[in-house]
Amino acid sequence: TFVVTENCIKCKYTDCVEVCPVDCFHEGPNFLVIDPDECIDCTLCEPECPAEAIFSEDDVPKEHQKYLGINAELAKSWPVITESKEPPADADQWDRIKNGEVEDKLPHLEK
Ligand code: SF4
Ligand code: F3S
Repeated sequence: TFVVTENCIKCKYTDCVEVCPVDCFHEGPNFLVIDPDECIDCTLCEPECPAEAIFSEDDVPKEHQKYLGINAELAKSWPVITESKEPPADADQWDRIKNGEVEDKLPHLEK
């Protein structure tokens, strides 16, 4: 399965959802998750994320291993999202790829 990790929090660009052939992205207030029971490992979403937040479960960086459980848990209650939308106005400011100074975002995850 593929996994959405920390850098999606407060960035939520949603480019990823358009390419998923099996609609396994679920949307929360400021983060998206992948339902591990639905993902067919097609790999299409990974390069779509400008925040580089999506990894194959085998490649999730050690410090982000907790996101495997977070994706599985939150996918159960959050609704499916299949169409991209405008990111938050301050998304770029919270994007680790664009801004090296970003603090740990997990405390900002809204459920
Ligand atoms: Fe969807 Fe494919 Fe990404 Fe899995 S790897 S979440 S099936 S786009
Ligand atoms: Fe998040 Fe990247 Fe998708 S920021 S919403 S995983 S495109």
